[in-house]
Amino acid sequence: MIIFRDNYFFLEGLDISYIFRIDKAGYLVHCYMGKKIKAYPTHIVPERFYCWHSWGEDGVKLDEIAQEAPTYGHTDLRKPLISFGEKISVLKYKCHEIYKGKKPLDALPASLDALSDAQTLEITLYDSLNNVEVKLFYTVFESMNTIARHVEVINRAEGELTLDSCYSMCIDFEHSDFSETHFPGRWGFEREKVTNPVVRGTLDINNARGGSGHFMNPHVCLHSPDANEKSGDVYSFMLVYSGNHSTVIDTDQRMRTRVMQGINPFGFKWSLKKDEKFTSPENLITFSHEGFGGMSRFLHKFIRTNIVRGYWKEKPRPILINNWEATYMNFNEEKILSIASLAKDLGIELFVLDDGWFGKRNNDNCSLGDWYVNYDKLPSGIEGLAKKVTDMGIKFGLWFEPEMVSPDSDLYRAHPDWAIHAHGLKPAESRNQLVLDLTKKEVQDYVIESVVSILKKAKISYVKWDYNRYITDMPRQGFNHEYTLGMYHVTKCITEAVPEVLFEGCSGGGGRFDLGILCYMPQVWTSDNTDPIERLYIQYGTSFGYPTSTMGSHVTASPNHYTGRKPSMKTRGDIAISGNFGYELDITTLPQSDLDAIKKQVEECKKIRSLVQYGNFYRLSDPFTGNIGAWQIVNDDKSESFFCATRVMFKSNVYFPIIKLDGLEEGALYRDEYTGNVYSADELMYRGAFIEFPHGDFVTFTMLLKKI
Ligand code: DGJ
Repeated sequence: MIIFRDNYFFLEGLDISYIFRIDKAGYLVHCYMGKKIKAYPTHIVPERFYCWHSWGEDGVKLDEIAQEAPTYGHTDLRKPLISFGEKISVLKYKCHEIYKGKKPLDALPASLDALSDAQTLEITLYDSLNNVEVKLFYTVFESMNTIARHVEVINRAEGELTLDSCYSMCIDFEHSDFSETHFPGRWGFEREKVTNPVVRGTLDINNARGGSGHFMNPHVCLHSPDANEKSGDVYSFMLVYSGNHSTVIDTDQRMRTRVMQGINPFGFKWSLKKDEKFTSPENLITFSHEGFGGMSRFLHKFIRTNIVRGYWKEKPRPILINNWEATYMNFNEEKILSIASLAKDLGIELFVLDDGWFGKRNNDNCSLGDWYVNYDKLPSGIEGLAKKVTDMGIKFGLWFEPEMVSPDSDLYRAHPDWAIHAHGLKPAESRNQLVLDLTKKEVQDYVIESVVSILKKAKISYVKWDYNRYITDMPRQGFNHEYTLGMYHVTKCITEAVPEVLFEGCSGGGGRFDLGILCYMPQVWTSDNTDPIERLYIQYGTSFGYPTSTMGSHVTASPNHYTGRKPSMKTRGDIAISGNFGYELDITTLPQSDLDAIKKQVEECKKIRSLVQYGNFYRLSDPFTGNIGAWQIVNDDKSESFFCATRVMFKSNVYFPIIKLDGLEEGALYRDEYTGNVYSADELMYRGAFIEFPHGDFVTFTMLLKKI
């Protein structure tokens, strides 16, 4: 609900209030954001004496004031939401509108109003110095604890206006009694959970590597220092964007905290001619008074409802087998068919042909961009192979890396200028490849045409969309945003051309795991690191922002190709089954005992995947701070729950650990389907469950609880 009364705006979601007002001079003053305030007669901020602040002719000292749309240089000298280079800007209220629903964002992915419970406040501010309009958008969802914000800047002046920075949101908190948690990483270890106290000064959690990145996920939480999984205030800030991003946490001399999130101003500039508009990406603010657990469950629900869309939105995801770690690029049709046929017998539903099927590609130094089949390897072509596989009764999926080109490719030889390059410099290679310049219409058209024509001709049900390097040699400031818009256009055209195909995003594993991608592709390959113990940390860290239905997780070979570890088939299966389940190993060489185990895992996954992929997620034990990681997923009516605990290292002569479960129905009895044991919910939640780990390192313990 959005109410406008006595110059105050009251925005209310499920259990969240966002309140701000228009002051006498026309500035937007932030009053409150957090747990719902049901009665709010006045907003009294005590007058504080503070010297060394400046005031303008309207008498206002903006440096003193919590603002919604700060600019730098006149009476506020903190970091600005928007800046027009050397031109000082003063933004004052002009008008506003409140309407049902929400408008789409120009050329950018954004959240939906899938439940038709959204209301939007659109405020127009005017800068009379520069003749510029700035619109602030706030969307509230009645049944969610998330508020969506974004900004539009429209140049009304005759001359050109240059935007130097345009964040998507700003909130000024009146104190700095916070810690922050964010999710940095690296290839093979994405979304590590890192917590720091908020200190005096500026923390800029950002990425300027072209995509949202392994290195820094666009998700940052500000929270009470003692917040845990069950209690404490947690404010989550997430960007619906896949390009360079920045989240600034800035504490000033009076220990107040300004938070802003949006496009990284580093390397950004945008020119606007008269009446041209710039639209920022959308930012999502989610609040929980019940700690990180509450925050994640609100966010997961929001993402499943308003970010993920299309045919696969609510469908259980197919169990797949991918040939990458089975064969890498060394395969032929016979090998592929042998894997697919055995997979079918084991109950697996989808076979995915990974990298190496096109051009002359037998290793990673050629052929990206040449999207035509290598008949030496696959004599029946993709159409023939897809038919043979689907005739076996298993679906067929295909790998692409649409945004890339190899210097050794027909495409590059024909169009060397289609690769991103700058100032006559030979562009830097990474994994022997270059990035196509998707700001160019002819390049976009080529990529769309070449991918869609294959998807339309062959029986393809799934696409893995890879992206395996950073973007270097960007020729101008603002290029990364132009690229990101071009990438979204290409992605939209391709995914809309084949609406029933399931797309899985990928970027050297989880290097582009963000809400922008999830608006087009309902799931993402979480990491190239498939060791279940490493995955325990990666999936645990990822779960803070993203629901299990978005995380690809596969059982791979032992010893693991990345780490050399040898966890059991059970451990590999239990961790992988906690996401979108699949396999990625050469099943044709496995002993019968492993094949029997796989058959059982596949049956198990089919039984529990709706619960696991669409249930409510509880983190119970943090592997980043201890030796055990544990999570639990409970369905909406609390009749079923899957629990999985993993012990990293065996410790000598200690008793069974006890872990308290969560989310069950108080007073109810539950039977563990795996052992037949009956427990009361209260005993599991208040006393805790004894975790009877098997002997050894790298072991798991699971329960499938059904209410009696
Ligand atoms: C990186 C991906 O993350 C892998 O799963 C695989 O698809 C390779 N690329 C193929 O080149």
